[in-house]
Amino acid sequence: MNDSSNKKKIAIQLIAQVNEFPPLPAVVNKILQVTADPESSLDKLARIVEAEVGLSAAVIKLANSPFFGLSREVSSIQHALVVLGMEEVRNMVLAKAMFNTFTSYRKKGDRINALWGHSFHTAMAAQVIADKMGCEDSGLFVGGLIHDIGKMVIFLAFSGESLLKVYGDTEKLDDSKKEIAFLGLNHEDLGRLLIKSWLFPEALQMAVGYHHSPESAPNFQRYPLVVRLADTLALLTVVGIEGEEGASLCLPFLDPPLSELYAKNGLPLTLNTIKNLFNEAQKTFAKADDLVSLLSG
Ligand SMILES: [Fe+2]
Ligand SMILES: [Fe+2]
Repeated sequence: MNDSSNKKKIAIQLIAQVNEFPPLPAVVNKILQVTADPESSLDKLARIVEAEVGLSAAVIKLANSPFFGLSREVSSIQHALVVLGMEEVRNMVLAKAMFNTFTSYRKKGDRINALWGHSFHTAMAAQVIADKMGCEDSGLFVGGLIHDIGKMVIFLAFSGESLLKVYGDTEKLDDSKKEIAFLGLNHEDLGRLLIKSWLFPEALQMAVGYHHSPESAPNFQRYPLVVRLADTLALLTVVGIEGEEGASLCLPFLDPPLSELYAKNGLPLTLNTIKNLFNEAQKTFAKADDLVSLLSG
């Protein structure tokens, strides 16, 4: 079999794998809808979460964990919403529901755990960037959280040995090229297919599908733009911002087309602004690490 027909076969298998993925609990879509509507009340969200007994108990447990450091015990979802706010509770519920969906696939432990860590860092960084842009859309946290979900599919589909051949020891920003070379399609396309099958809103499909090429996004360009930068801030934690590798991660943001697109969306970037955003995001990363270990427990 020649190389291109082999790749085509792998790509078809991967897409089939996407179709076999367990559906996300319906509660996730309901929450995305309710929290996207500015007219929605806390009551409405509380009723949706309370209807899911397991999820609701997990969220109350999280709300009472040292992570939030609350002085009084939280005893209900209603109460959690009052003391923590709609956004925190929504993020916790979504993170827990996504985590649960993937827990039955824990076989590739290390790689998957590292990817969750990276995903939470990206989610936290996306929120920092969204705040800087004066953008109140909290869907950007979710965009960051799920941006590399296509990689989950690839990790679950292949043995550790094959993954080593595709990615080497660790994943990098140019992984999409390696994926195309080995698998015939990349994690952005796979991720977009998966969340489309979960009926996620188009803005999130754009965030996932174009997080390495926001300039090509046909709609909701702000989403992939925020996630592209958040992804980089998360990677900078690993490689450091001062060295050569860090500098090469920052460079694409300083030239067109990216520099123009960020400026157009209210976030003109210089090396200094990127450094400041990185420092701000860094402060939230310890919180993200705590959240990952709480969710895995
Ligand atoms: Fe990615
Ligand atoms: Fe990433």
